[in-house]
Amino acid sequence: MASKILDHGKIERNVTLLLILALITVAIGGIVEIAPLFWIDSTVEKVKGVRPYTPLELAGRNVYIREGCYNCHSQMIRPFRDEVERYGRYSLAAESMYDHPFQWGSKRTGPDLARVGGRYSDEWHVQHLADPRSVVPESIMPGYAFLKTRDLPVDRLDAHLRALRRVGVPYSDEDIAKAVEDAMAQADPDADASGLKARYPKAQARDFDGDPKRLTEMDALVAYLQMLGTLVDTRAAEPMEQAR
Ligand code: HEC
Repeated sequence: MASKILDHGKIERNVTLLLILALITVAIGGIVEIAPLFWIDSTVEKVKGVRPYTPLELAGRNVYIREGCYNCHSQMIRPFRDEVERYGRYSLAAESMYDHPFQWGSKRTGPDLARVGGRYSDEWHVQHLADPRSVVPESIMPGYAFLKTRDLPVDRLDAHLRALRRVGVPYSDEDIAKAVEDAMAQADPDADASGLKARYPKAQARDFDGDPKRLTEMDALVAYLQMLGTLVDTRAAEPMEQAR
């Protein structure tokens, strides 16, 4: 049969030949896996409702990353019954399509946060972040009370939006021009947030940290936590949800 052309004995005794042929075989496998990606538009299916983060949410996300919350919290609900019953509908790829870097995480010392938005009040979050054991006595989460006293630096948020646009997040010129204004408006109960809400549907605008006079890192972090998992209408496609 093919033994004349593919004489295995010969290949196995000649290290150089074995290496070359192994490399060719691996290269074919690689091309088959990688090449199709150049011809499809996107590997992520678009889902209605998913939008880029508002500047304030983005600033909160930066605090989340800076403080290393991802060391204890994941943001990806896996499609298993126990996870879906505890955290809500399993995460969709589109829900983290604007995350750079994504926050799926691999460690769950604390619960998954992918759908924590709206589950607790702002007051609960502020109290919990400042002193976790005052609301959950058995908690081992560290306290972050200092976030209430640190002013949020907003002046460079437009640059952050611009950087994200470079890697594919569809921020418009207007979004970038109004980044600082939007960040302030989202946490100020007296500000006109209509422009913000038009640009970022479902954006929640209010004072988040209980101190309307100041824009703090706590405002940003709570704004971020309160929007997690709220953009996609998961109930529409969730038969399990009805059973509860
Ligand atoms: C050392 C690990 C650890 C770190 C770091 C940590 N957490 Fe937690 N977190 C926990 C644990 C454990 C719980 C569960 C007990 C509780 O509610 O306090 C929790 C609970 C939570 C909850 C409530 C979730 C729910 O569904 O009940 C939120 C929100 C939260 N953490 C946010 C954060 C944020 C934001 C940060 C970063 C500023 C952070 N955590 C850092 C361990 C951690």
